[in-house]
Amino acid sequence: MTFKGCLFDLDGVIVDTASHHFVAWKTLAEELGVAFDEEDNEQLKGVSRVDSLEFILQKGNLVLDSNTKLRLMDKKNLHYLGLADQIQPADALPGIVDLIADLKAAGVRIGLGSSSKNAEQILSKLNLLAVFDAIVDGNHLTLSKPDPEVFLKGAHALGLAPEDCLVIEDAIAGVDAGIAGGFQVLGVGDANELKRAHAVVPGFGGLNWDEIQNLLLHK
Ligand code: BG6
Ligand code: MG
Repeated sequence: MTFKGCLFDLDGVIVDTASHHFVAWKTLAEELGVAFDEEDNEQLKGVSRVDSLEFILQKGNLVLDSNTKLRLMDKKNLHYLGLADQIQPADALPGIVDLIADLKAAGVRIGLGSSSKNAEQILSKLNLLAVFDAIVDGNHLTLSKPDPEVFLKGAHALGLAPEDCLVIEDAIAGVDAGIAGGFQVLGVGDANELKRAHAVVPGFGGLNWDEIQNLLLHK
């Protein structure tokens, strides 16, 4: 058996925007008097903008009206976009462009499954928008990862069943979303954090599609 489709998360898998999201959330949290560290950030990776704000408010026992929440989310997003503005094609994480070329050559359909509402803008900066056969992002979703909606919609848009697609994720919430949707999940990052993934790699440098499939299909 081989995979017919591959669904990529964006932030932290294709490009290191995860660090920009972290800086922007940390700045906002600290302005609100809420401590925010790397461990908090791990919980927020893959989580939508609104749910991330709610996490910070809950941590600080803060209750705010909906207009204030919208204003804070806009503020965080402007900060984030300012940090992400310099992204260019060379910033695609090591091995990603080669892996996408491998997938294309093997006839594997590729989709994006991201919680971010900025996904298309970031893919454009990387010159990668056109390589995706389907894009599902935060603008198309009602439920945040770990709900499987994003990947189920992605597989549907590719015309494939979940069991025929591989999900690639760097976030705990994203790994859980893939598992809940019935996908095979490859984690990228720390194997101790991404325990529930079917396999975990530290990054894609030097790994081709056959090697990746072997890690999963021999599980
Ligand atoms: C996810 C990121 O991909 O998108 C989160 O991992 C981020 O850190 C979320 O908060 C929402 O992104 P955006 O760009 O819509 O604020
Ligand atoms: Mg991610």
